[in-house]
Amino acid sequence: LTTMVKICCIGAGYVGGPTMAVIALKCPSINVAVVDISVPRITAWNSETLPIYEPGLDEVVKKCRGKNLFFSNEVEKNVAEADIVFVSVNTPTKTSGLGAGKAADLTYWESAARMIADVSKSSKIVVEKSTVPVKTAEAIEKILTHNNKGIEFQILSNPEFLAEGTAITDLFNPDRVLIGGREETPGGLKAIQTLKDVYAHWVPEERILCTNLWSAELSKLAANAFLAQRISSVNSMSALCEATGANVSQVSYAVGKDSRIGPKFLNASVGFGGSCFQKDILNLVYICECNGLPEVANYWKQVIKINDYQKVRFVNRLVTSMFNTISGKKIAILGFSFKKDTGDTRETPAIDVCRGLLSDRAQLIIYDPKVPKAQMMKDLSTPKFEWDQPGSTVPVAEDSITKNVTVVHSAYEATKDSHAICILTEWDEFKSLDYQKIYDNMPKPAYVFDGRNVVDVTKLRQIGFIVYSIGKPLDPWLKDMAAIA
Ligand code: NAD
Ligand code: UDX
Repeated sequence: LTTMVKICCIGAGYVGGPTMAVIALKCPSINVAVVDISVPRITAWNSETLPIYEPGLDEVVKKCRGKNLFFSNEVEKNVAEADIVFVSVNTPTKTSGLGAGKAADLTYWESAARMIADVSKSSKIVVEKSTVPVKTAEAIEKILTHNNKGIEFQILSNPEFLAEGTAITDLFNPDRVLIGGREETPGGLKAIQTLKDVYAHWVPEERILCTNLWSAELSKLAANAFLAQRISSVNSMSALCEATGANVSQVSYAVGKDSRIGPKFLNASVGFGGSCFQKDILNLVYICECNGLPEVANYWKQVIKINDYQKVRFVNRLVTSMFNTISGKKIAILGFSFKKDTGDTRETPAIDVCRGLLSDRAQLIIYDPKVPKAQMMKDLSTPKFEWDQPGSTVPVAEDSITKNVTVVHSAYEATKDSHAICILTEWDEFKSLDYQKIYDNMPKPAYVFDGRNVVDVTKLRQIGFIVYSIGKPLDPWLKDMAAIA
């Protein structure tokens, strides 16, 4: 780079924080300010305890913070001074009004764009980092130029592909970086090149893909839809495996050996969670519907329907296996986050599973290594928004949550005196627990319902557990119980 670049990122969340920390680390000559309206978030970014748990993140932040990486609530000042403004605010699903249950809520994005337009005194490149509906850039351009101050704004789409739990390694070594811009204009090409120069500090050139704006926006939605579709495909097979005696791990392995399919993202589970997959597919569904493509919309809807089915199926399996009643029974929940190595609980399958068990009047003892109790209680008591029937929610009485949920600090504490164990997150520590000791401290029959295929089924059956593991051949006990139900 010939001139020193100043970057400002609006939104210090799971994407803005780690992404900017890595840019600061890899580009010592660039000044990076991450701004947010949330005071507690910024305070945490400036403290010893960062607001998010992500392996390797602390180290990166410690190396750069105060040098060329700054976290601040002074949003307007930092935006005004920047050459490149990343917008990485949240874009959740709308819960009311037109498109409720599907469309992306762009309130935060719009207010960020208006603010950029209002405070800017010099030309800027505005980068869409948030995941947005295809064609958002067009609307953003209109907002940026609405007060016509003669300042040039170039808008780029640079969607983020990091996964939580592996954000730092994903950012260090991305499969690709995607930059969409107005390739048809000299100003657009120059802006693309400027952002390319930033990533070229550490990303090999052949992995930096440049496209038009709409391709970049849509590729992000498409990638998440394809990934989620693989999980729903394997999860649909898991139900058939249980019915037939096939083993889903063997099926996944055999299918994934086909080089055209590949081995990754074929793990059967209790369902996918996380802030992105469901939201982005619903967004895609909505865009298809708006463009008069109901067949395409229905195709992608099915990916979410199978995911919902998988969670319900898990709860039903548990209840039928335990003599059709779990009323008053203690059930240990191991893992609450949506995947291992994160404390994030957004859309975690644990919420639906726990609410399902609570509605059957179980007593839950929950343990997760990273999720605080207050977060679990908040998640369980927030009425679930039914995407397919906007406006309807599944009620779980508030007092049933406070009375019937206990949060503890270890897996041993959770499982002691429990009738059943549900593994809902694949935390490594659940693989190496002393299951003999756990078995000895449980009333019999002692059950394990493994929603993540982490336990050694044969070993646990030898100990004496009745084991259900998604998509694996069923215990005779489970078969008998299913037949009675
Ligand atoms: P987040 O909720 O963790 O962070 C968003 C932040 O933006 C919040 O801290 C919020 O206070 C702040 N904010 C909102 N409006 C603001 C405004 N007007 N000015 C200043 N700050 C404002 O969200 P996230 O998980 O980081 O996701 C951000 C975007 O990135 C979303 O569009 C998401 O779809 C996309 N994305 C997320 C992931 C992921 O793994 N979480 C991965 C890829 C893409
Ligand atoms: C996802 C995308 O992977 C990432 O590229 C995008 O930028 C954001 O959304 P994330 O949601 O953080 O990332 O995690 P991911 O690893 O994709 O897992 C999502 C969910 O799918 C988790 O609940 C996970 O447990 C589940 N999963 C994943 C499966 O059930 N089976 C699999 O084989 C893989």
